[in-house]
Order: sequence, then C-alpha cells, then structure tokens
Amino acid sequence: MAHAGSERESGETKDDELRLSEAEIAVHWKEEEYFHPVPKFVGQANLTDPAVMERFSEKNFPECFREYADLLTWDKYWTTTLDTSKAPFWKWFVGGRLNVSYNCVDRHLAKYGNKAAIVWASEAEDEPIVSITYQELYVRVNEMAALLRDFCGLKTGDRVTIHMPMVPELPITMLACARLGVIHSVVFGGFSGEACGARIVDSKSHVLVTMDGYYRSGKLLDHKVNADIAVKKAESEGQKVEKVLVWKRFHDKLSSPTPMVAGRDYFVNEELKKFRGVLVAPISMPAEAPLFLMYTSGSTGKPKGCQHSTGGYLAYVTGTSRWIQDIHPTDNYWCMADIGWITGHSYIVYGPLALAATSVMYEGVPTYPDAGRPWRIAERLGVNIFHTSPTAIRMLRKLGPDEPKKYHYNFKSMTTVGEPIEPEAWLWYYHTVGRGQAAITDTWWQTENGGFLCSTKPAIDPMKPGSTGPPVPGIFPIVYDEHGKEIPAGSGKAGNICIRNPWPGLFQTIWGDDERFVKQYYAKYNSNKSSKDWRDWPYFAGDGAVWAKDGYIRILGRVDDVINVAGHRLGTKELESACLTVSEVAEAAVVPIVDPERGRVPEVYIAVKPGTKASAEEVAAKVTLAIETSIGKIARPRAVRIVPDMPKTRSGKIMRRVLASISNHMDYGDITTLSNPEVVEQIRVQVQGAGPVEKKVGPEDIRRFGETT
Ligand code: WTA
Repeated sequence: MAHAGSERESGETKDDELRLSEAEIAVHWKEEEYFHPVPKFVGQANLTDPAVMERFSEKNFPECFREYADLLTWDKYWTTTLDTSKAPFWKWFVGGRLNVSYNCVDRHLAKYGNKAAIVWASEAEDEPIVSITYQELYVRVNEMAALLRDFCGLKTGDRVTIHMPMVPELPITMLACARLGVIHSVVFGGFSGEACGARIVDSKSHVLVTMDGYYRSGKLLDHKVNADIAVKKAESEGQKVEKVLVWKRFHDKLSSPTPMVAGRDYFVNEELKKFRGVLVAPISMPAEAPLFLMYTSGSTGKPKGCQHSTGGYLAYVTGTSRWIQDIHPTDNYWCMADIGWITGHSYIVYGPLALAATSVMYEGVPTYPDAGRPWRIAERLGVNIFHTSPTAIRMLRKLGPDEPKKYHYNFKSMTTVGEPIEPEAWLWYYHTVGRGQAAITDTWWQTENGGFLCSTKPAIDPMKPGSTGPPVPGIFPIVYDEHGKEIPAGSGKAGNICIRNPWPGLFQTIWGDDERFVKQYYAKYNSNKSSKDWRDWPYFAGDGAVWAKDGYIRILGRVDDVINVAGHRLGTKELESACLTVSEVAEAAVVPIVDPERGRVPEVYIAVKPGTKASAEEVAAKVTLAIETSIGKIARPRAVRIVPDMPKTRSGKIMRRVLASISNHMDYGDITTLSNPEVVEQIRVQVQGAGPVEKKVGPEDIRRFGETT
C-alpha cells in the first residue's frame, strides 16, 4: 500500500525522523506465559464456539455483523448492511430504523420490569444504595424526555451538553435524549467550566444539563459554579445557552452556594413534577442518525467531537458486551469508569442496558475512604463482572495490596481498558482481585471506535499478561511502518496499528469537520482518494503496536502528541495553549513523564518573555492554574520548569523528545542537529542536578508505551 505522506510539511527535519524511527524499533520483551479460563467460567459463557472466527472471517464481511444487529429490536429492518458509496464515511444498516432508549429500556419491561437496571453507590458510604428497576427507569426517562421536549423545546437532531457527575440522573438524561433523537454531548464531570464551554460552542448546544454538587474524595463539590463559567465562555464565543437544567444531588437540600440565574437556570427536580407520568413515544430513528458526540483530544489543538451513530453503534456495543464482557441479563456488572468517557457510554450505559443487565454506578474515588472500597461495593452488591483501568489497578494495589482478600465477592470476569497494563499489575489483578477464577479481558480501543477492537474472547482464547490479545470478531488489523509497508506478525518490530475494514461501532465523522476526519484517520495510508472500496481505506489508530507470532497484539501507546494520563487522553497542544494564556509565557512545551500509578503525567517547560518581573515560582503557579482552569485538575502538571530557552531544531521546532528524556532522567541522545545544543545541558542540570547523566528509566520504559514525544 502506498504511503500518502502528505501530512509532513517540508522543512520538518531530524526531529520527525527521530520520532518515526522510535515507532519502528525492535522490541525485546520477555514473552509472558498463557493463562486459561477456568471451566466454571467457560461453562456459562455467551461465546464458546471457536467457529465464530470463521463466521466473522473476511469473506463473510460485512454481513457477519448482522449477528450483532439482530441482538436489537428494529422498527424497520435494514436493506443494506454496509454502504461504502461515500468512502470513508461508512453507513451501516442503511434503511433500518430503531430507537436506542426503546432498546435499552422499554423492550425489557415485560420480562425484567422489576429487575434493577441501575444500582448506584454514593461516595459517602453511609448514604443508602439506590436501585432503579427497569420499570422505574422507564418512567424517569419518559418524564425527562417530556421535559426536554416540552419545556426546552428540543427536537430530533438538536444537541444538548451534559456536564454531570456519576449519578443515575446522568444515564437517565442520556436515554431521554436518545428517546427524542436529540444528540447528547456528555462532558466529563471533572473537566473545568471552560472546557465544558468550549464543547458547548463546538456542538452549538442551547441547553446545558448539570448538577448542583457531588462528592469527590469526601468533599461535596460545588459543580453548579462550572455551569456559570461554561455559559459565560460559550457566550463570549457567540453561542447562547438558553436554559441550564440543574439536577439536585439531594432532593431535599441544595449542594451549591452558586445562585440560580432567573429565566435561565431551572431545577430539574422541580420542573419534572409538571411531567409526572407523561409518556413520550420513542422516535424511530434512521440507523445512521447521530446518537451522541464525545469529545476527545487528538494530535492537533482543538478537541474533536466524535460523532457516533444510532444503529451501528448500539449493535456493536451490544454485541461486544455480550461476547467479550460476557454480560447476561442475570449479571451484576460494574464498570468503574466515568460515564463522561467513551468507556462509560458504551460499557456502563448502552451495552449493558441493551442486554438487560444490572449496571452498577459509583459516584466517587475508588480509594475513598480506603483502598477496600471497591471490594466492599462488589461484596455488598454481588458484582460478578468488574471493569476498570490499569491506573485504578495500580493504585489499589499500591494502597491496599491485601484488601481484596478481606471481602467476599465473586468475579467471573474482569476487564481492563485505557492504557497498556504491565504484566506485574496484571498478575495482581488476576491472582489477588480475581483469585485466579476470573477471566481477564484487556480491551484495546478508542473513543473513535465505539467499542472493543482487540481483546481475548474470554472463554475461547487464553490470556497473556501485557498483551491486549487478538482482534475481536470482524476486526482486521494491520501494522504498517511509516512508509505504508506491512510489518508482519512475528517480526518483533513495532509499527502503526491500523484497522483494514470498517465496523459498525466506528464513529461517523468529526462533528462539523469532515475534512479533518479524513485527514487524521485515513489520509496516511489511503492510496486512492476516490476509491469506494473499503480495502483502500485503512483506519489509522495513532497507536504503536507489536503483533506477535501467536496473533496477540501488544499496544505501545500513542504515536501522536497525546499524553495518556491515567487512561485519559490529553492533547499536548491543548495544554500548551493553556500555558500561553499566562501573560509572562513566551513558549511552552508539555512532555509526558513516566509515573508508576498514572502511567503518564504531564510536565511543563516554560520560556518566559524577556523583561518578565515575576519570579519563577509565580509564573509556575499561574501556569498550573491556567491548565486547571482551561482543562481541569486531571491535567495538573507534575512540575512546571522555567528554562532559559527551549531546545530547538534549526527550523525552529521545539525538541520535546529531548525535554521528555531529561524529565524522565534519561540520556537525551544526539543533539548535534539542534540550533542551540548548549541549552540542553543547562536544562538537564536544572532538572536532574549537577551529577552525571542519570538513566533511572531505561529507553524501554518509554518505548514500552510507544511515546515518542
Ligand atoms: C490507549 C479509551 C493499551 C491507546 C477506550 C488508545 C490502550 C487510547 C488500551 C484511547 C489497552 C486504550 N491497552 N492501550 N487495553 N485501551 N488504550 O480514546 O493509546 O480515551 O489509543 O479510549 O488509549 O483512549 P480513549
């Protein structure tokens, strides 16, 4: 396959070459041993037939995905499984119509009306558990849909921004939107008001749904204040927010001192009383109508609104929830992610509810008040499927390595997602958390993908610590080098992982930016722009990967300017532009540093404007505040370093790789091609001290995650 190569501007030199070569390095890990699922698990699993790979082989593509779509209830069956006529804007199940809230709620009433759909645990351990049956969920979704339609005037195709914590009112609001065909854009509750405002502007929402407050690490936080900031930011950029709907965390008291704005802000709990018992007929939506937007960081500045479809998305998350997570209606399933990220959308809300499972939600921090909390919740609620991230696993292991042993819960399967998990953490998860009884699925995928791309099929494939596993049914990956040459499995070389084929969960476009969609995900390895054949459009995932002889894939991490902090993608450019809002800052560079718990954390380098009077400490404090204000505390840098100058190439590009090496206490390598090599040693001494070059972290540690900044 030819390499389009058009993205590299002329004038980009050695910096990029170094960056490329790192993605292609040979990797010499120790091969891990296999672990096999226990017979008790296999005996009850949804997917045990190895012939599935034949059914989902390339010759049966795309029709194989009927199996997923048939898990749903359609108002009208589709006529075309995959329409490629506007490549690469794929359309799935064309001609079909369905409603997502009907599929996740109404259709379960006859059989499961009295079964819990959502079980919620407050962070405050003495607050009672809340269980919401499918029947009650039905009533509450209908009432909220009535409010959105009749009080807010929302209609099919409108966008609503939702900035809420982990409470049942969040999925209720999402499902109410889905009932009306209103496109929701959920912003992670921990993001700042400004970050929320920017997403309101991009999605052109007139309505913001929020909550007055919520618990985080034992504190009741004022969240309503963020709505005021968000609306102000949106209005300063020309997007008027007409209504702010505020859910109350406690129905009988207020959790925020921030005043309500008359004529704009309304308490949902009050307004809902006017809609008691109102039923809203679910709108029959075309399969390819957008269901939601989910913003994520990419390699260029602005967050991208990933637009997900109705039919294809729901089919894909339902199918993978059933086969990979092994969810049955009788399971108590707990995914500890936040609904504000794609994992929460697909695998707390839509997949589990489409399967009539019981989905557990937890409001707070996993280690609050101590590292036994998740295991107490699992014990109390009878959780049997557990889903979390390597960051949480590392943290729970560090703070409470023996805690799981104290509690009586039984996991049959466990999932990890978000970043590569190192074998050591995997083994603790397997032996101590899962007691050697639970099958682990390490699921690799992205916001853009809707659902899992690689993972073991838990009752069929053995597990291999540190590897995500083979591709899931119907996914055909390929690993390319920078020039579009295939790197075959078993070669021991890393490259860029791509998916050769479209699949139903794949996002449809970047909201309002088709051009960027094509450029970022397809241009790199597409050889014929006018081709209508999907084989000509490999999807570029932006991750480095190594494909082993046994078909298992090991993901190394991002190859673009994205730092994966605790499983959350943060754009380095977003962070850098936040730094530049500080008036003293002339230049900013953000680099990832290796962190034993969080995977990566950002560290910031700043060059100040000449004549700056403020001290280094003052500037650093301002920079940290600017990052927290424009993005959120999640992006808080480990350190802000004020340096005399940035190391630069002769074409003027900041050498982030050199700074990253210094921050990670590594040798910074060859710097002879820089325009100002002398500054590098100065910075190294500033960061590492005057001794000889340290090598605390070996190059493998960085490369292990593929970060090439
Ligand atoms: C990384 C989260 C290794 C990867 C669903 C990807 C992983 C980015 C894994 C997407 C995994 C996710 N092993 N790396 N199992 N899962 N990643 O969009 O770099 O928040 O590109 O989606 O996380 O992050 P996102």
